[in-house]
Amino acid sequence: MARNICIVSAKGGVGKTVVTINLAAAMMLDRRPVVALDADLKMSGLGLQLGMFHFPVSLNDILNGRAGLLEAMYIHASGLRIIPASLGVREASAARLRKVLAHPALHDSTVLVDAPPGLEKNALAVLGACDEAIVLATPEIPAVADAMKTIMAAEKAGTKVLGLVLNRYRKGQLLPKEIESACGVPLLGVVREDREIAKSIFRRMPVVVLKPKARSSRDFRRIGAALSVPAGGAI
Ligand SMILES: Nc1ncnc2c1ncn2[C@@H]1O[C@H](COP(=O)(O)OP(=O)(O)OP(=O)(O)O)[C@@H](O)[C@H]1O
Ligand SMILES: [Mg+2]
Repeated sequence: MARNICIVSAKGGVGKTVVTINLAAAMMLDRRPVVALDADLKMSGLGLQLGMFHFPVSLNDILNGRAGLLEAMYIHASGLRIIPASLGVREASAARLRKVLAHPALHDSTVLVDAPPGLEKNALAVLGACDEAIVLATPEIPAVADAMKTIMAAEKAGTKVLGLVLNRYRKGQLLPKEIESACGVPLLGVVREDREIAKSIFRRMPVVVLKPKARSSRDFRRIGAALSVPAGGAI
């Protein structure tokens, strides 16, 4: 059944792209039909993190009505299906994203949408185009404060907040329970700080594929398995 989930955080650099790629890859390994879509239209990074540098057609072209959805769908060496954003500065507005997400070719798939940072016009348009959202935070007070603002923005946009994923977790920082209670939404999972992630970006492979036993891979697999439960289920 078609499902789209935005991976979102107002704060930049907290791991939206890493989490989108690895949750999508985790679901793929669980044999779920999944597509990772880069909605960071100005500073796209999803294709780059996977070592894909040449996209004749991108999401920007679909949004501008210059191409169809299937022309902008690529298959990474891992088997992951991705829809990248333009690597250049091709202007595009996310206003038509909801229509793209409703495309019949995606009807059997979960689409994980990598959102841009911030709460500006395009970021809010991405959030508003998605049915569901996972809000990302790291265990520092500024990131948690931004996660709280993101949750409020999602609720205002009518996007269902499934909950929070805490990324880059390590000891000596805010505790998951404290963050969950500050944000007032369920904690869906914790992804631990892991040096294997930077290495996997260097190797152009999702860490869950490259190093299945790495601690972050185990965390992503756990969250991905819970996400595979259909909407209305446990997550
Ligand atoms: N769990 C983790 N452990 C270690 N490093 C991580 C982890 N998650 C992300 N990183 C590192 O953080 C960097 C930034 O991650 P990413 O690009 O996914 O952030 P982002 O939220 O998408 O950034 P932006 O807001 O600019 O789009 C990555 O290059 C990666 O090296
Ligand atoms: Mg990003």
